[in-house]
Amino acid sequence: MRVSVFGLGYVGAVSCGCFAHDGLEVIGVDLNTDKVKMINDGRSPIIEEKIGEIIADAVAGGTLRATTDAEEAVLNTDVSIVSVGTPSKANGSADLAAVERVSEQIGRAIAAKTARHVIVIRSTVMPGTVRGLVVPALEAASGKKFGEDFGVCFNPEFLREGSSVRDHYNPPFTLIGQGSDNDGDAAAQLYAKVDAELIRATIEEAELVKYVCNAFHALKVTFANEVGILARAMDVNSHHVMDIVCKDTKLNISTRYLKPGFAFGGSCLPKDVKALVHKAREKDLDLPLLRSVIPSNRMQIDRAVDEVLKLGRKRLGILGLSFKAGTDDLRESPIVSVTETLIGKGFDIKIYDKNISLARLVGANRDYIEKEIPHISSLMAEELSEVVDHAEVLLIGNSSPEFAGLAAFCKNGQTVIDLAHIDELARADGINYVGITW
Ligand SMILES: NC(=O)c1ccc[n+]([C@@H]2O[C@H](COP(=O)([O-])OP(=O)(O)OC[C@H]3O[C@@H](n4cnc5c(N)ncnc54)[C@H](O)[C@@H]3O)[C@@H](O)[C@H]2O)c1
Repeated sequence: MRVSVFGLGYVGAVSCGCFAHDGLEVIGVDLNTDKVKMINDGRSPIIEEKIGEIIADAVAGGTLRATTDAEEAVLNTDVSIVSVGTPSKANGSADLAAVERVSEQIGRAIAAKTARHVIVIRSTVMPGTVRGLVVPALEAASGKKFGEDFGVCFNPEFLREGSSVRDHYNPPFTLIGQGSDNDGDAAAQLYAKVDAELIRATIEEAELVKYVCNAFHALKVTFANEVGILARAMDVNSHHVMDIVCKDTKLNISTRYLKPGFAFGGSCLPKDVKALVHKAREKDLDLPLLRSVIPSNRMQIDRAVDEVLKLGRKRLGILGLSFKAGTDDLRESPIVSVTETLIGKGFDIKIYDKNISLARLVGANRDYIEKEIPHISSLMAEELSEVVDHAEVLLIGNSSPEFAGLAAFCKNGQTVIDLAHIDELARADGINYVGITW
């Protein structure tokens, strides 16, 4: 396979070297004549472990060369990788000028090409950029049609400077955002020598994954730093604390709590986050990340209320009142907050939660309902069907298994607002399904 790589920066230089090392025929393209000359002299334009020898070997072996001539590079290759820079503008958005310019250059070159060309975007760009900017630029410059005459994929790069060659060969996965399987197959061929899971996605999903990964990494660093600031102020060894935190691969370093959904609640998370924020304040520390957790969670509760208000229907059924399925604990349940707000706005509400049947509740939870939220307890129904019959709109508050088959009980066209992301409901016919963050 013959590949042209546009942009000989950190990503492009490593791609050129590694793909050539893997046996592909590679042509690097850059506006910068110094970088082009360095490659052609067998030298790396960047400092990275191993890349110097990889590039020297590839150039000596005839599998890598570089040029400033975009057209020549496209005409002599089957696939073009775009890895030009997308630096921040003053307002924070990504500067896409180089991506647009390269797309036009490649477009002009493929106008003169009979064989199908595939363009693989590796520069980090927001969802919508490939279809909204790259594809139109390619089509306008080439007079050809995306899909029919040429292919485009988005294939994010996960390397880290300092360990980029190692990262190239050991990525967390290879992600290909594709418009069609054929185009994805062409991009996948680049990684024949890389031992990693190959994941296919839409172009937009892949574009977003790259940003989400980087935002998550930044969030982790900031979280650990705020923990460190607070720990030091309390004379606690922050590194030992985080070493222990990281040993919990069930709840901490795991997939838990990482799916978009409704607000968190329960008797521990809100209380303990509030206590940490209070401790920071007491120590005159400003920890903006930790401080923003409760307000952000509150906004998620407001979003659920807004979803209901938007529909303009007053007869509401709430299914699942506890903060998660399988518990009768109502303390700090976010769905209780939603219910209270909607009662205040005059909604006619009936509620069902199998675990919160007053007839069966005992002890602290019965006390809590009777003393703290008696106005809610009077709205509880014993049967799911009673609530479904009453409601114009159903609000699902937790993922109790019995809600998966809910659509079978619903009246045709009944609206179901799902705060718990119940897959079966999302796919069910006959209901008007509304998700909260999906
Ligand atoms: N650096 C990283 O660790 C890293 C990791 C993953 C993803 N990325 C993303 O990859 C992209 C590239 O990053 P980088 O750090 O390699 O950038 P960089 O700034 O080091 O290199 C970009 C190169 O593109 C060249 N270029 C600009 N316009 C060109 C054109 N019209 N034709 C040919 N070459 C042109 C520049 O001369 C430069 O050599 C960015 O979107 C970045 O966000 C970077």
